[in-house]
Amino acid sequence: MALCGLDFGTSNSTVGVLRHQQAQMTPLEKHPISGAWETTLPSALFFDFETDDIHFGRDAIRHYSQGEFGRLMRSMKSILGSNQMNEGTQIKATVYSFQQIIGFFMNSLKTRAEAFAEEPLTSVVLGRPVHFNDHHPELDQAAEETLAAIARNIGFTDVSFQFEPIAAAYDYEQQTQSEELALIIDMGGGTSDFTLIKLSPEARKKSDRSNDLLANHGIHIGGTDFDRLLSMATVMPQLGLNMVYRDKPNLAIPRHYFVDLATWHRIHHLYEPKVLRELSDLRRNVVEPERLDRLMQALRQKDGHRLAGEVEAAKIQLSEQDQAQIELSFLDELEETVCSVSQAELVSSIATEVERVFTAVDETLLQAGVNHTEVQTIFTTGGSTALPSVRQLIASRFPAARQVRGDLFNSVGKGLVLEAQRRYG
Ligand SMILES: Nc1ncnc2c1ncn2[C@@H]1O[C@H](COP(=O)(O)OP(=O)(O)OP(=O)(O)O)[C@@H](O)[C@H]1O
Ligand SMILES: [Mg+2]
Repeated sequence: MALCGLDFGTSNSTVGVLRHQQAQMTPLEKHPISGAWETTLPSALFFDFETDDIHFGRDAIRHYSQGEFGRLMRSMKSILGSNQMNEGTQIKATVYSFQQIIGFFMNSLKTRAEAFAEEPLTSVVLGRPVHFNDHHPELDQAAEETLAAIARNIGFTDVSFQFEPIAAAYDYEQQTQSEELALIIDMGGGTSDFTLIKLSPEARKKSDRSNDLLANHGIHIGGTDFDRLLSMATVMPQLGLNMVYRDKPNLAIPRHYFVDLATWHRIHHLYEPKVLRELSDLRRNVVEPERLDRLMQALRQKDGHRLAGEVEAAKIQLSEQDQAQIELSFLDELEETVCSVSQAELVSSIATEVERVFTAVDETLLQAGVNHTEVQTIFTTGGSTALPSVRQLIASRFPAARQVRGDLFNSVGKGLVLEAQRRYG
C-alpha cells in the first residue's frame, strides 16, 4: 500500500510521496524554458480541439498561449463549494461536469507521482481549505464529498483530509528546536487559512494533536481575488467598464461582463455566443464604442486567460518594483496600448480585502483567547504571502514574533505526506 499527500491548489498543485522510504515532493513537470523539474503543476488544463488531447500545467498554458484551437480551464478549485459546482461546461460536443474536469487533472497528478514513487498510490491525504465556502456549511460539505469522490474515481482506496494550514504547520514543525506557539498563515490563490498551534520536536511523533491545536480559521480571499481587483481598477476601464449610455449619461453599462473577464474561474462564461451578440447591441448605444471593441476582441480571440495572466504577472512584479506594464496591444487593431500600474494602485485596489484577511487572523486568535503578543512564531506559506502589503501587516500586527518564511508553494504538500505517513504508514 503506497501513500501520498496531495495539495490540489487553486493556482498550483503538489504531491508528496514516499520514495525509498523518504518523504519527497514529486517533480511534476519540466519547466518549458529553464528545463528544470518543478514540484508544482499549475492547476490548468487545455482541451485541444484539433487533436482531442488534454494538456496539463505549464504545458496547458503554453498550448493556449500559442493560440491553439481549444479551451483552457484554470482555478477549478474555486468552483468547488460555489453554486456553480453542479454546472458543466461544453468542450466541443461534450458537456463535462466540473467533477470530471477536476478528475482529469488529479489523475494526471497521480500518474506523475506514481512514476516518481515507482509504485501505484492507493492512500491519500488531501489538503482542504478550512472553508470551501465561508457562509454555507452544506456547500462546504458537498465540496469535500466531491473531492473525495473524485479521489476514489481515480483509484485511491483510502481517502482522508487535512486542513491546509495544519499540514503547513507539520512541515514547519520539522525545523523546531523547542516548544513554541506558532500562527500559520497560508495565503494562496483562492483562500487564506490560519492555524494557531503548539509545535515542538517531541510532539512530531504524537498521533493525537487535539491538545496542541488551539484554533483554525479561513476566509475565501486569495491571489485570484487580488488579480480581479487589480484588473477592475486598472485594465477593465480600458475595455469599457464604467462607460455610460449615449442617451443616459448617468447610467453605466452592466459590470458583470468585466467581472467575469477579470475572474479566472468565470472567464469561460463569456465564450457563449450570446455574449458577443449582447455586446454588439450594447455597442450601438454607448459613448465610446471603441473601448468595447477591445472587450469584444478579447472574447473573439478567447484572450480572457491571457489578459488575466498579464494582470497576475504585473501583480507579481509589483512585489519587487514600483511600476509594471500590462500589455494590451493584442486587443487593439489600431493602437499600441499599454496599461501602466503602480504598486500604490495595487495596494489601494486590494486594501479592503487584505484587511478582511487580517480581521480573520484576529478572529483566529480570539477563538483561542490568545493575545497577539503571545504568538512566538509566524510561519507564512502560499504565493500571496509574498505581497509587500501582507508582509507589512504581519510585521505591524505581530512586532515581537519571529517571522519564518516557508516555501511558498510546497509547504502544504510536504505536511500532507507527513500526515499520510502518520495515518497510513
Ligand atoms: N511574488 C508574488 N507576489 C504576489 N503574489 C504572488 C507571488 N507569487 C505568487 N503569487 C500569487 O500566489 C497565488 C498562488 O499561490 P499558491 O500556489 O500558494 O496558491 P494555491 O495553493 O494554488 O491556492 P489555494 O491554497 O488558495 O487553493 C497566485 O494568486 C499568485 O498570483
Ligand atoms: Mg495552497
